Amino acid sequence: MTHVFHRHLRQEYPIAVAGDGPYLVDSRGKRYLDGSGGAAVSCLGHGHPAVVAAVREQVARLEYAHTSFMTSEPAEALADDLIAHAPAGLTHAYFVCGGSEGVEAALKMAVQYHAECGRPNKNRVIARWQSYHGNTLGALSAGGNRWRRAQFASLLIDVSHIGECYAYRGQRATGESLEAYGLRTADELDAEIRRVGADHVAAFIAEPVVGATLGAVTAAPGYFKRIREICDRHDVLLILDEVMCGMGRTGTLHACEQEGVNPDLEIVAKGLGAGYQPIGAVLVHGKVVEAMRAGSGFFQHGHTYLGHPVACAAALAVQKAIRSEGLLANVTALGERLDALLRQRLGGHRHVGDIRGRGFFRGIELVADRASKAPLPPADKTHARIKAAAMERGLLCYPAGGTVDGAQGDHVLLAPPFNVSMAHLEELVDKLAAAIEQVLPA
Ligand SMILES: Cc1ncc(COP(=O)(O)O)c(C=O)c1O
Repeated sequence: MTHVFHRHLRQEYPIAVAGDGPYLVDSRGKRYLDGSGGAAVSCLGHGHPAVVAAVREQVARLEYAHTSFMTSEPAEALADDLIAHAPAGLTHAYFVCGGSEGVEAALKMAVQYHAECGRPNKNRVIARWQSYHGNTLGALSAGGNRWRRAQFASLLIDVSHIGECYAYRGQRATGESLEAYGLRTADELDAEIRRVGADHVAAFIAEPVVGATLGAVTAAPGYFKRIREICDRHDVLLILDEVMCGMGRTGTLHACEQEGVNPDLEIVAKGLGAGYQPIGAVLVHGKVVEAMRAGSGFFQHGHTYLGHPVACAAALAVQKAIRSEGLLANVTALGERLDALLRQRLGGHRHVGDIRGRGFFRGIELVADRASKAPLPPADKTHARIKAAAMERGLLCYPAGGTVDGAQGDHVLLAPPFNVSMAHLEELVDKLAAAIEQVLPA
């Protein structure tokens, strides 16, 4: 009997014992193509020699120094590297251990920023339905997945939510262009800020490409530009959660580059350390840092493992590998090929409602009926059955339910390593199509 408190307590898990490029190997020797990099984490695949060497070297030299006493060379070097390639205006990196910790820190930074500027009542957050920002209480409060929130509602802070930008289901069927849909949904933010009172709103948080809850949904053209204008109009900080979609996943280092907007705070995590170490970061606008420097002089937050030297060394090696191996170009070029393969193989399937995404961040939404877009019955647990059928075939992908409203809907998320070849993508799509066809015969 296992003594690990696993995620599912009535399920047996294979034991992962090795990694080999885009494959994971279990204790029985079975190989699994890692088509989702876990949850969009392993952007370099497994066993990348330069990252392994960087981790070894750093742990032998200095494993840990508490950030209340000292900084470290890897933390300084990683911050320099991230800021050199960050969206305009971002000047500092605050290192944490993962996505949820990054979201917590960003929410507090926003509130403290306004307090330092003499606006202590500007302390509320607006977020979006059908978003995922993590499972700690602040991040869960910001998140918009009704199912994840429901059980812990009594513990959540009061965050208001506007609608998501999800054209497949939200765009009006007649007479509304994609652009008009984008502006209509973005304007919900203006209305909510006015309802709450601009004097009370500290920040708006959103994922540029929605990952876990919606399955790689990009915003309508112009949506984020309008969001930026609204935030500026009301002196509300724009927090972009790029934990899943950032650090190259969509073909540019930052997903927001493709939206033409710069955030005030940006959270990155998963691809930052590529799974070699747990690490995340909040990239912070100079005005936030300067307000704190001129005011109290410190950020009232912190955890024991902030800026962990081994994690920072790993993340720096990951960033260098992405550049030296030209991987963003691979993500862009092969991302298009992946999209084409998915459309070719699954585009005509009567239960495939939508194929979407950008770069190596792709989603497939499954429906009962393509014309009406009616979701499959939630009791069928289609997403879970596809995950199992794919694993049987030696493929890891990331299916989830609740795509429509937190309860109904199914999608499959794909996020392969940036350094895969066309042959790996063909294997991925073949195995995925077979798994989907097994669960949902065409
Ligand atoms: C967009 C987004 N934000 C935050 C998180 C939380 O990250 P973590 O699981 O590392 O705490 C996730 C995790 O999936 C995510 O996708």
